Amino acid sequence: MSTAAKPEYAVDQIALKSSQGAPTQAVFDREDKFGAHNYKPIPVALARGEGVFVWDVEGKRYYDFLSAYSAVSQGHCHPRIVQALTDQAKTLALTSRAFYSNVLGEYEEFVTKLFGYDKVLPMNTGNEGGETACKIARQWGYKVKKIPENQAKIIFAEGNYWGGTLAAISISSEPSAFKGFGPYMRGFDAIPYNDTAALEKALQDPNVCAFFVEPIQGEAGVVVPDEGYLTKVRELCTKYNVLFIADEVQTGLARTGKMLCIDHEGVRPDMVILGKALSGGFYPVSAILANDPVMLCLERGTHGSTYGGNPLGCKVAMTALQVLIDEKLAENADRMGKKLRASLADLPKDVVSVVRGKGLLNAIVINPKYDAWEVCLRLRNNGLLAKSTHGDIIRFAPPLTITEEQMDECLRIIKGTIMSFAQGL
Ligand SMILES: Cc1ncc(COP(=O)(O)O)c(C=O)c1O
Repeated sequence: MSTAAKPEYAVDQIALKSSQGAPTQAVFDREDKFGAHNYKPIPVALARGEGVFVWDVEGKRYYDFLSAYSAVSQGHCHPRIVQALTDQAKTLALTSRAFYSNVLGEYEEFVTKLFGYDKVLPMNTGNEGGETACKIARQWGYKVKKIPENQAKIIFAEGNYWGGTLAAISISSEPSAFKGFGPYMRGFDAIPYNDTAALEKALQDPNVCAFFVEPIQGEAGVVVPDEGYLTKVRELCTKYNVLFIADEVQTGLARTGKMLCIDHEGVRPDMVILGKALSGGFYPVSAILANDPVMLCLERGTHGSTYGGNPLGCKVAMTALQVLIDEKLAENADRMGKKLRASLADLPKDVVSVVRGKGLLNAIVINPKYDAWEVCLRLRNNGLLAKSTHGDIIRFAPPLTITEEQMDECLRIIKGTIMSFAQGL
């Protein structure tokens, strides 16, 4: 036996692999012990995914009705994206933007032609996409709108969610997101969502450079604005020379039954932020789309990210987008969403008081006399995973690849679960 001192950074591999007790409990315990407690997951320990299904460490199969907050729209481990990822990983994964790569330009041409914008700025997470859009908007505000230095304002909608960075939480309406994390970013203001009178008032301030809004507020609990809201937003932003930034990180990429959620009203924002499903759930890839008069306000050397635009992410994104198109996932989301909502609307109002959504971005509101977390636990026991939010809302957002037969089975699970509450079981 060696008497050499243990190297400082060595980890005992045998101890690392062994887990005590039942496999599921061991997963919970280890995460609890070694990980920060910034999430409160539904107690299920997942080990594998394929299409609309995930399996836990004990081999039980579930329908995934969250899709990693709408990132896994193409279904878990989509074989075409796996292939693109592994092929590119073996060839060239990361160059940084210090150099050109033979993939970035191809992706940039692909994504800008697909969405009809002059330019794209590639980033990684959705949150970074939002931060970047704010930076571009401020630059435009100073250079084009001639807002006095450091006076630019961006207007957001109450109930917004675009991540957990200090900028994003600075304009959050959710105390658990912002309380205790001040001081906050200056130059951000919020107005009520779906309120065009409030928007018009706010935009009259000549220092406003942008209105940043989700076409449907996902994290707020799938809050769908009135029809015509986005059209009016476009009109007002044009009237007051303010940039319209659509945060499509959750709503975009076929999730709501159209490629972009703004397509339901046929409007064109000045900037579109994409993320989540842009990589089909494999890799953080986000993008900001804009035309030259806006995007070129950002000069070389003023913004960057080591991983943003890397060859691996670019190949994954191109394939993830092509899968959405080839498999007609927007059309499927539209059809399956209509079927889902029609069926949910028949559930007892005493338990499910509201059903709302578009395409496969949906939510139910649980009557406060029941506990939405408990409903999620019972759904899990019955083979379907969903997560509650704000205490009384449960989001239903399965992968867009879900078939009619699978949806029928999910509806049986949901109905059986809700009925068990209605019957006081
Ligand atoms: C609308 C919206 N924007 C931005 C984000 C942040 O994305 P990410 O978690 O990838 O940073 C989210 C995440 O849920 C979101 O829903």
